[in-house]
Amino acid sequence: MQTIYLDNNATTQVDPEVVEAMLPFFTEKYGNPSSIHRFGGLIRRHVEQAREQVAGLIGAWPEEIYFTSCGSESDNMAIQGFVKQHRIKSRLVTSAVEHPAVRNTCRRQKEEHGIALEELPVDAQGLIDLEHFKSLPISPDTLVSLMWANNETGVLFPLEEIAEWVKSRGGSVHSDAVQAVGKMPIDMSTTPLDMLALSGHKLHAPKGVGALYLRKGVKLPALLQGGHQENGLRAGTENVAYIVGLGKACELAKKRIDNENNQVRKLRDKLENALLASCKGAKLNGAKELRLPNTTNISFEAIEGEAILLLLDENGIAASSGSACTTGSLEPSHVMLAMGLSYTYAHSSTRFSMSIFNTEEEIDKVIEVMPGIVERLRALSPFAI
Ligand SMILES: Cc1ncc(COP(=O)(O)O)c(C=O)c1O
Repeated sequence: MQTIYLDNNATTQVDPEVVEAMLPFFTEKYGNPSSIHRFGGLIRRHVEQAREQVAGLIGAWPEEIYFTSCGSESDNMAIQGFVKQHRIKSRLVTSAVEHPAVRNTCRRQKEEHGIALEELPVDAQGLIDLEHFKSLPISPDTLVSLMWANNETGVLFPLEEIAEWVKSRGGSVHSDAVQAVGKMPIDMSTTPLDMLALSGHKLHAPKGVGALYLRKGVKLPALLQGGHQENGLRAGTENVAYIVGLGKACELAKKRIDNENNQVRKLRDKLENALLASCKGAKLNGAKELRLPNTTNISFEAIEGEAILLLLDENGIAASSGSACTTGSLEPSHVMLAMGLSYTYAHSSTRFSMSIFNTEEEIDKVIEVMPGIVERLRALSPFAI
């Protein structure tokens, strides 16, 4: 059966051009970039080229990019590093809809170090109240950590405005931009963030590689002790093949971003409009305009999201309910609950997330099967009226 993969916020297909760029680093190009000899020097040049490619995608300087193993590690480095530096005086401000990589890290800092933590609520659109945010005290010991794009709804926080505000008051800003990088233009030369996390496997590079952007002049203590790799911030011999893959994926994303966005947005809008029109009790979750172009999150009243996923799966269609990292738990997603969704809507939230590898025929197939799935499940639902 043909698979229709609409779960690109969970992970993406590795681009064949990325695979091709990586392959020599498993065979003939196996040197250690820290070695003095020519095998090492050659590899070092590839690592530095990848750093330039990543920097190029987000309008940064290459020396502001630190390679890590994933987005979660980058988030941990930023938040734990800040708290290590500012100790008990640290004050963390984040939102109620962050990915666990930020949410749990901030909560752990509060539990273990007794520091102040504020989780900003969101409204029904998934947006924070900027007026309330601007009423919060900000000091040099404050770290504001807010995601750029939400993984479940695609809703965007206005990071440019937030960063300007915090910096003008002497605080620091980190953004978990794992879902945003590669899906929308990001320019660190005009956005005064201090730190930003990104992850390879969300933008057609493999799993197991990410990066932390650290603005020039911003210092963080290392979390790992060992060698001097990554300017002493992240010990461990570099994962060269994967770093090269991340660099290539960023180069491709930069070239394609405008076209891709238009193409993916058209597919997303087609699917969203059709499902909202044809499925009874369907409701869009999250702000319609301030959103990533590839994501739609729809609730189908009184139906379990997991049941929808199973029937979609029978049709060869992969989607997601809540975030992939929290599946396995039957609790409704913390993002939907924070947006104030009722139990019957929160439980039925279904996310379709697209990429350039999706086609219109695939979207047509989903549009064809979804109304039947919704009708069938609603007939069985004890919650349906
Ligand atoms: C918003 C967000 N932040 C962080 C992460 C974690 O990234 P990684 O899987 O690379 O650790 C994810 C992954 O789903 C995410 O969606």
